[in-house]
Amino acid sequence: MDYKKEFIEHLKTTNRQGIDDLVTELEDMGFFKAPASTKFHLNEEEGLVKHSLNVCKAALNIRKSMIELDDTLLEELPKDSVIIASLLHDTCKADIYKPTMKKEKNRFGTWCEVPGYDVDYSNFPLGHGEKSVIVLLRSGFELTDDEIMAIRWHMNAWDLPFQSYDIKSNFNKAKEICPLLSLVQAADCLASNLLERKVE
Ligand SMILES: [Fe+2]
Ligand SMILES: [Fe+2]
Repeated sequence: MDYKKEFIEHLKTTNRQGIDDLVTELEDMGFFKAPASTKFHLNEEEGLVKHSLNVCKAALNIRKSMIELDDTLLEELPKDSVIIASLLHDTCKADIYKPTMKKEKNRFGTWCEVPGYDVDYSNFPLGHGEKSVIVLLRSGFELTDDEIMAIRWHMNAWDLPFQSYDIKSNFNKAKEICPLLSLVQAADCLASNLLERKVE
């Protein structure tokens, strides 16, 4: 399966300006080879592009189901925005994982060395969703306000209790005015926890 080709094909269906430059930027950052995590979902070469495609497919299915339940969502969830926000939400991860060898107990209880990844934020330490948005805009790619909010805040449901009052207020307002944010969060969660779960 050529995941990079599939990713670009999905992106090109949107006809958004700047896709070729964006793909070059993603390539330079290592997006198409990077894993999706150090030791959780898809911690393998090309894990990030596979995860992005899974989130996109889950998001398109959720969009369809939600519009069937409430057709007023059609206007607020344009297909192009769903594709763009879900494919690009984790752009920030493209350059943070470094291959390494890790010690791990095998099923017989013996320690052995297995290939894994360490995380290193030193290239551009801006955070998670914030970094994704900035890297995308810096490449010249245009994002709508809803796409920016959905990408910026896609992780914040999970660590919200530990955030400042300002962050919580901004997140809550974005969630209220931007249905795309809830959709990307749900798709990210379902792709990671259901489609990409590790089966022992
Ligand atoms: Fe993320
Ligand atoms: Fe993700």
